[in-house]
Amino acid sequence: MKPSYSNLCTEFYDLTKPEAGPKEVIFYENLIRTAKGPVLEAMCGSGRLLIPLLKQGLIIDGIDNSSYMLKSCQKRCEEQGLQVQLYNQSLQTLSLPHQYDLIFIAIGSFQLIHNSVEALKILKNVVTALLPGGRLVIETFIPWDAIKDNITGSILSEQSKEITSERTASSPDGFEIINQSTVTTYFKKQLEISQIRYEKWAEGKMMYAEEEEYTVRWYHRYEMELFLEKAGYSSVNIIDTSFEQNEKAVVYVAFKPE
Ligand SMILES: C[S@@+](CC[C@H](N)C(=O)[O-])C[C@H]1O[C@@H](n2cnc3c(N)ncnc32)[C@H](O)[C@@H]1O
Repeated sequence: MKPSYSNLCTEFYDLTKPEAGPKEVIFYENLIRTAKGPVLEAMCGSGRLLIPLLKQGLIIDGIDNSSYMLKSCQKRCEEQGLQVQLYNQSLQTLSLPHQYDLIFIAIGSFQLIHNSVEALKILKNVVTALLPGGRLVIETFIPWDAIKDNITGSILSEQSKEITSERTASSPDGFEIINQSTVTTYFKKQLEISQIRYEKWAEGKMMYAEEEEYTVRWYHRYEMELFLEKAGYSSVNIIDTSFEQNEKAVVYVAFKPE
């Protein structure tokens, strides 16, 4: 498996998704303002959501297992005079100095955990990282459009055709990053597998290339509720909402027992 969230991926991410939109920021801000203790964004990446929240004066720590994404987050925070505590760790081996009242995972990042044994392990690790009565908030999505487009009559295909696309992002310092991606969706396995090649170009020359592969799994709501229950959460609220970068968001709010 090729690595994900490396160097060029991070540069491309920051050019194409620099900051979350206002709807998303307000939703998370309202949630965080109800926290009775420390707050952590898990899988925070380069700060797309974390940075606008910090700019609202909130205190939030971040954790991610990509050193590239975290380096960019730290740099962007420093440039804007924002203080943040970041941890370079995998959620599979979580070890934090204190517990949190609220841990949130935004924009479908949890779905990068496509193996159900690992997903359960992470949900259990997060219970341990929460204070009694603390909350885990997980935002997810289901690719309904891809599912709808692959129903013929009443039969859903086993897998989609390979969908290829190309996007170019231009940086203010004169570089261009090309992203060539091939995505295949496996409906019955609830998986979307992406193969991506990034190329960085300047003055008509390719400077650097990077290959990436990642798998996203979608979780249906009762499946997610059962996972959360099995991991030790006492109750789960579900919010259907819509954000600029996730139009059909399903947000789970799971409580650790008091
Ligand atoms: C889609 S990005 C989202 C980043 C950020 N939350 C945002 O809103 O833009 C997913 C992030 O999850 C991180 N990640 C993936 N697997 C992880 C794991 N097992 N433990 C910690 N972070 C992980 C990746 O490095 C990446 O930065």
